[in-house]
Amino acid sequence: MGQIVLKKCLQLARPYWGLLLLALLLSAVASALSGSVAWLVKPVLDDIFIGKNYTYLRLLPLAIIALYFLRGFTTFLQAYLMRMASLRLSNDLREKMYAKLLKLPVGEAGRETAGRIVSRVINDTATVEPILADVFKTLTLEGFTIITLVAVAISRRWDLALLSFTVFPAVAFGARKMSRKARKTRHRAQEEIANLTHRVNESIQGLREIKVYRQEKSLLQKFRRELYAYYRFLLKVTKYREGSKLIVDILTGVGGALVLTYGGFLIVRGSITPGDFFSILTAILMTFTPVRKISRAYTSIHDASAALERIEDILSYPEEKGGRRKAKAPHKGLSLARVSFKYPHTADWVLKDIELEIPAGKVTAIVGPSGAGKTTLISLIPRFYDPTLGKVLLDGIDLKEFDLSSLRELIGLVSQDIVLFNATVYENIAFGKPGASREEVIAAAKMAYAHEFIVKLPQGYDTVLGHKGFNLSGGQKQRLAIARAILKNPPILILDEATSHLDAVSEQKVQQALEKLMRTRTTIVIAHRLSTIRDADLLVVMDHGKIVDQGRHEEIINRCPLYRELYYSFSRPRKVIPLKKKK
Ligand SMILES: Nc1ncnc2c1ncn2[C@@H]1O[C@H](COP(=O)(O)OP(=O)(O)OP(=O)(O)O)[C@@H](O)[C@H]1O
Ligand SMILES: [Mg+2]
Repeated sequence: MGQIVLKKCLQLARPYWGLLLLALLLSAVASALSGSVAWLVKPVLDDIFIGKNYTYLRLLPLAIIALYFLRGFTTFLQAYLMRMASLRLSNDLREKMYAKLLKLPVGEAGRETAGRIVSRVINDTATVEPILADVFKTLTLEGFTIITLVAVAISRRWDLALLSFTVFPAVAFGARKMSRKARKTRHRAQEEIANLTHRVNESIQGLREIKVYRQEKSLLQKFRRELYAYYRFLLKVTKYREGSKLIVDILTGVGGALVLTYGGFLIVRGSITPGDFFSILTAILMTFTPVRKISRAYTSIHDASAALERIEDILSYPEEKGGRRKAKAPHKGLSLARVSFKYPHTADWVLKDIELEIPAGKVTAIVGPSGAGKTTLISLIPRFYDPTLGKVLLDGIDLKEFDLSSLRELIGLVSQDIVLFNATVYENIAFGKPGASREEVIAAAKMAYAHEFIVKLPQGYDTVLGHKGFNLSGGQKQRLAIARAILKNPPILILDEATSHLDAVSEQKVQQALEKLMRTRTTIVIAHRLSTIRDADLLVVMDHGKIVDQGRHEEIINRCPLYRELYYSFSRPRKVIPLKKKK
């Protein structure tokens, strides 16, 4: 398990192998220097303390200073380099995951809750990061140190050295068992923190609902329960971790007693000098810290392997796939051929056997009650989803054959829930056409009747929106989204209830702008407004995932009862006004 993770990490770290190698070299030097400390104990004890050698005494302080200086310096440098490599690696991972997120099909991205994905991108990569900086460093540096120390000890007196080192396999075994348990618990704790993240996220977004439905208490209770679970898991992790240290401590004591007894016996018998004995003892004592560090590193490896698994899970999601053909603006039109659709991982058919020709350069309006499948139908055109059965064609060619980017290049979209990005108003509009000049953006905003409210914002076009920024009303958002679409000037325009949020006056204005926009291109509009419906070249009436009727307004108003009902319900507000006036 550990090896696999290390191997994977080293694979990920391939771009930084140069750095790692240099760091490794430095750690070899640092550990050799550590070993020489134990080595020095013998001459100091035998020649200076017992033999009273003045030349050695004079050299001693210099040697010690030089040794510690060099060791400190190499240790510092290698830690710095390792950290550099590992921080870059974890950022690479984050970038990879983010890039992946952007390539996920809309359906796949929606399957995981946002909190979980966020937690993976942020927390799990943070768990993997120390693998190189701490674990790899520990394994190499401390591994070298142990080897040199063992070599020093064996060169002094092999049997005494071997006796003391038999203790360590036992230590390592005990520590490993504990760390395995710690890992499993740690995994649960990670999941719990993802839940917590999600809860906080959701509560910020749903603050209004929470307040109105008086959910504060129950949410707080749930949060407290989740916090407690998290606390329990982390406490368990600590128990296992500290437990493994306890085992190391106890075994250390036993080993120490053994070594002291046998070593004392050897000295008394005159087989070794006190210098030999203390040199070995120093070497042994000096191996404790590295061994402890290595056993701790083992725990980190297991944490990281769980995190890495979750990361790889995301990285292995299937990406959107397009074809090779370059999509061109429609000259005949779009068609849906026997299209049926259900959302991934659901059972119900949302679209049933749809046959539809959407003529190029004309306005096609879709009407139907809520839940009829209107938004779903238009999501097939930019290939947010693919039909479960049947095909969507552009000028007779299956959309799947087109290069995704070239297909989407043709489409302007004003969707039902408009998202403002954390950027200035200007950038939010320029989303429609990267690199658009300020004049173009302002012209688009004017056409969408957004200019008037934008100039009244605190910093006008430079006002930051979204996260930590300024929020806009529903109608303002819509006008901004329309400006985006106007700026893009796409041959295919998709409007999902584009003006439903507007008041009567703004609606009229936007309507004029939209009409100009619609006239010259292939437009599909989910319409709730009478003027659009009446003037549409083709009206499509949908209900329960089926097309109930299609044609021009004058044709179907008499033959389709559902359409009649919808039509009059749309016009009702306008009829109410004169009634009130009569009173
Ligand atoms: N992401 C999704 N996963 C599963 N089912 C979905 C998803 N989105 C919509 N549905 C279901 O598909 C059906 C059609 O939804 P759709 O959003 O297309 O309706 P609509 O005609 O646009 O309605 P409205 O006028 O309210 O916007 C609904 O029954 C809805 O519950
Ligand atoms: Mg809808």
